[in-house]
Amino acid sequence: MSVRSKLGALAAIAALIVAGGAGVCLAADPTPTDLVDALNGVFGKHAGMRAAHTKGFCTTGSFTPSADAANLSKAPHFAKQVPIIARFSLGGGDPNAPDNAQDNVRGFAIKFDLGNGQTTDLVTISAPMFFANTPENFVGLLQAVGSGDKEKIKAFFAAHPESTRQNAWLTSHPIPASYATVGYWGVHGFTFTNAKGKQTLAKYKLVPEAGDVGLTPDEAKAKGADFYEAEFKERIAKGPVVFDLKAIMGKDGDQTSDPTLRWDDEDNRPTTDLGKISIEAMAPEQTCNAHPFLPGNVADGIAGPANDPIFAVRSPAYIVSFTRRQQ
Ligand code: HEM
Repeated sequence: MSVRSKLGALAAIAALIVAGGAGVCLAADPTPTDLVDALNGVFGKHAGMRAAHTKGFCTTGSFTPSADAANLSKAPHFAKQVPIIARFSLGGGDPNAPDNAQDNVRGFAIKFDLGNGQTTDLVTISAPMFFANTPENFVGLLQAVGSGDKEKIKAFFAAHPESTRQNAWLTSHPIPASYATVGYWGVHGFTFTNAKGKQTLAKYKLVPEAGDVGLTPDEAKAKGADFYEAEFKERIAKGPVVFDLKAIMGKDGDQTSDPTLRWDDEDNRPTTDLGKISIEAMAPEQTCNAHPFLPGNVADGIAGPANDPIFAVRSPAYIVSFTRRQQ
């Protein structure tokens, strides 16, 4: 069974979950290396490439903050326009992942250049939730899927209904026609601190100015497995691809420990405009490969959730993958 079809089978398998399935034995306290090994276990090792979000391309542009951004955070890019490097990608570690699959996230990673060698990163996906809420469950899911054993996979999802939410969300939304025509979410709850010390809880959302445009199943089939990069190149030749960066406002009692869960009524919450991300040019791969995009690389004035075990393990795991692909 190919990796693609293994993953493609997730939606169907999730739908077949039987209550009371056998538990899956998981390793205790997996390390960041274990997480990368688990990704390699499913997708194979691909020398010089990312262990996840392997297929993608690099771009450059700029970020222009809104007038309100500095009220939320004292981070330097919320007070002045800065250059950015951005990489669009498909989820999973398959370098040949098909662009026209519905059950996969699209990734959008941004590195804001703050000057003097300082950067702050934002690493987002085209779904408002993640598929695991602990490193153990991340490894457990990948090991179950990697085994190709349908019973093990069924048992995993029976024991972890929270891990079915992302797939359910993706399969109920159309395949994006372009990386430029889908929204992206930061998924985790971040705390912003402004110059006066005021703290605000929020989640990031990126809204495409081109609108949400999806493909019908027939259109997606006709597009084939490799159209996103050429489509983007053509689009960008006509003008910048712009996203509105927004903060979905948190409120008292909002949880930040479980990235498989959305906040109540998240889509209808008040938002604050943070600024505009303008993607202006295609860039060589090396521009995006020289430094990793790290969720935990955030400027003073922005803090990730201290109680979210997925957020905590991401940057160390990305560094394992980055170190390996440099060798
Ligand atoms: C335990 C949870 C996770 C693990 C272990 C993990 C692991 C990884 C790894 C190993 C990479 C490649 C890093 C590199 O070589 O530079 C990566 C890239 C990426 N991840 Fe994650 N990830 C996790 C959760 C998430 C979440 C929650 C999001 C989105 C909110 C996300 C979005 C991305 C994106 C967009 C990239 C591509 C970055 C780029 O273009 O360089 N990941 N992930």
